[in-house]
Amino acid sequence: MPNERLDKLLASTGRWSRSEVKRLVREGRVAVDGRITASADEKIDAERAALTVDGEAVRLREFVYVMLHKPAGVLSATEDGRGKTVLDLLPEAYKKRGLFPVGRLDKDTEGLLLLTDDGQLAHDLLSPKKHVDKRYFARVDGALDEGDRAAFAAGMTLPDGLACMPAELEIVSSGVRSEALVTIREGKFHQIKRMFSARGKTVVYLKRLSMGPLALDESLAPGAWRELTEAEERNLKLTDCPSFSA
Ligand code: URA
Repeated sequence: MPNERLDKLLASTGRWSRSEVKRLVREGRVAVDGRITASADEKIDAERAALTVDGEAVRLREFVYVMLHKPAGVLSATEDGRGKTVLDLLPEAYKKRGLFPVGRLDKDTEGLLLLTDDGQLAHDLLSPKKHVDKRYFARVDGALDEGDRAAFAAGMTLPDGLACMPAELEIVSSGVRSEALVTIREGKFHQIKRMFSARGKTVVYLKRLSMGPLALDESLAPGAWRELTEAEERNLKLTDCPSFSA
């Protein structure tokens, strides 16, 4: 990155708008290489300069990666006339940056949702060829047994003809209402609900726990978000193959 204006650089992180950056600078809260700066239009060498806001280092990156604990009742879309979307849960600056969800969760599904403006990474994670594991916690009406586990593991063909890849079903508890951990390697429409339905069970609660190496930070309450750590970002970019053998 060549020299850029300080306000533009800080706004590009998605954490503040340009006017917010100007206010932070006016309030003496922004430092460049340890020196409090008084001008938001100062030209900065983004490759070398160490920027802090309130003493906290700011990472300048080409792309932004956000982990959201998606709550139920919100659509996995950037815009939708029909209701609130996951983008509505993030600061406006992220919307302006063009963040989008990597894949979709149903409106009533909770859990891990990655949002980014890195089209290449999103494409790689969603590519059917990559078979990135997606792990879910599911609560279903009906008892689960070895037959269900074996059917998931064998790769089910749904009544409408959809052929599913082998999936892992770990039964946590079984009864009138059962709980299980499910790992799938693809992301077909309503896939988990349809797989259980083909076994005569109805999903009453679904939460995504992980996608590839990226696990939901359980300290995030539904609706809360944070940017990925550098290690999470690095591991995600190394994602290549499934982690379970079915
Ligand atoms: N499978 C489903 O049925 N729904 C989701 O939201 C994700 C996976």
